[in-house]
Amino acid sequence: IYGEKRRNSRGVNLNVRSHYDPLMKAMSGFMERSYDVGPLLAFEVERDPANVHEVFSPYDRRQRVGSVQWTSRDQAARAVDAAWAAFPRWEATPVAERAAIIRRLGDLMEENLAELMTLCSREGGKLLTDGVDEIREAVDFCRYYAMRAEEQFGEPLELPGPTGESNRLMLSGKGVFAAISPWNFPVAIFCGQMVAAAVAGNSVLAKPAEQTSIVAHRVVELLYEAGMPRDVVQLLPGDGPTVGSVLTSDPRITGVAFTGGTDTAQIINRALAARDNAPLPALVAETGGMNALIVDSTALPEQVVADVVQSAYQSAGQRCSALRVLYLQDDVADRVIEILRGAMEELHVGDPRDLGTDVGPVIDEDARSNLLAHIERLKGEGRLLAETRLDPAHTAHGTFVPPVAFRIDAIDALEREQFGPVLHVVRYKASEIEQVLESINAKGYGLTFGVHSRNESFAQLVAQRIRVGNVYINRNIIGAVVGVQPFGGQGLSGTGPKAGGPHYLLRFATEKTVTVNT
Ligand code: NAD
Ligand code: ALA
Repeated sequence: IYGEKRRNSRGVNLNVRSHYDPLMKAMSGFMERSYDVGPLLAFEVERDPANVHEVFSPYDRRQRVGSVQWTSRDQAARAVDAAWAAFPRWEATPVAERAAIIRRLGDLMEENLAELMTLCSREGGKLLTDGVDEIREAVDFCRYYAMRAEEQFGEPLELPGPTGESNRLMLSGKGVFAAISPWNFPVAIFCGQMVAAAVAGNSVLAKPAEQTSIVAHRVVELLYEAGMPRDVVQLLPGDGPTVGSVLTSDPRITGVAFTGGTDTAQIINRALAARDNAPLPALVAETGGMNALIVDSTALPEQVVADVVQSAYQSAGQRCSALRVLYLQDDVADRVIEILRGAMEELHVGDPRDLGTDVGPVIDEDARSNLLAHIERLKGEGRLLAETRLDPAHTAHGTFVPPVAFRIDAIDALEREQFGPVLHVVRYKASEIEQVLESINAKGYGLTFGVHSRNESFAQLVAQRIRVGNVYINRNIIGAVVGVQPFGGQGLSGTGPKAGGPHYLLRFATEKTVTVNT
């Protein structure tokens, strides 16, 4: 379905609407439902009204989605006890059985697509197209990691050699993993971390983002329905520093899979390092980016703009992979900016459940006010190049931010990742390309990067020189596909290994060599 969405001045193409109609009908059954949820732990949790947080939709703050009881420190500590006790039994469970449960979760998420998409939209403000991608990616993670686990954790690797002995290398789980996830991929990333850790033989404490715990709760319910024991995977919704500090200070946590901000990853890293008498933990951290795209004078301006609009504004710019800094070679800069202005005038910002919407809300009031402060500052400096108009009829009650493009002199002007629909444009001369590459590398982030050029050797040279995890040539820079476009950054953007790649599960595993004198 994705990719067929077309809008004209009279609204949505009928052909596209007919694709979505059955799904939208199914979704309508979940639009009014109230979800009142809480931790899913190996033991019963009493309702504690003092620790319950109300949830409202980002596109209309008057619309209640439900409520979430957050996990207390004491409950988090008891959850670690249960996970620790469950580990030996789960590790001894044949990998085929573990993988079957994870595959079944994938099937159940497909069967419950309408409900999960509705929750992504109501709780996370996701467009329908983004919702389809989101669930698709989560299902792909389940199937891909189940397949890789059977290949890598099944039979031991025989290593015949000159010793004349039998040498076998085998993989098993490490122990207890904390899986700490962000709100911007509330199903895909939440699920990817959790199922990778579990299928590798670890017990898991899954900590969803505060903003998107309801949809995470629904996914874990489906995981239990798929056959996952309740002590092997537990859900700990709650405040990041509160729940996080219980988990990351406990010496029994053998690994953390974290996706979120670079600052938070550094806090977690320090907490893990400060533990006394704890085994050295595994930390998989996937963090923020300051992603750039370079356009040289041979590029096709129309294609550039189509890819820039998707990269910078799809998902309201709330993707770690999203484009933040567009470098335009002088010869094409004016033309690209002119087409970009036109394209941005056509963007429709509003209710994510409407097929005619291109850009939905940002996640919450904090996100909106941080972005607006940045926007006001750059406007005050006279740097505005283009802005999409917000129509109050569609945006008055939600946390909306207009897509904007600003002229800046260099990437150095940006202090931190602006996690929203804000694009910065830098003009450069052909003779300055070395300097451009150096300044992008010097920033220290290294997530996604793009180049638009019909000069193949230029594109390849730039791709080789840039230090990032994912390079895209002559296309947009978002939407990596599980299994074929392993995703993740380097430097301030993450530790690797790449999500959805062949080496990911190895970080969740321990290796043992058994040598027999035959
Ligand atoms: P965040 O760092 O604020 O929160 C992420 C998670 O960490 C949440 O579950 C939060 O509760 C938890 N947390 C917060 N403080 C903690 C602490 N002290 N100890 C333990 N856990 C704690 O990030 P966010 O706002 O949810 O997500 C947006 C960020 O995530 C952006 O920077 C984006 O670039 C990044 N991101 C990266 C990737 C990637 O693959 N590289 C993917 C998606 C998002
Ligand atoms: N995997 C997501 C993307 O590539 C973050 O956009």
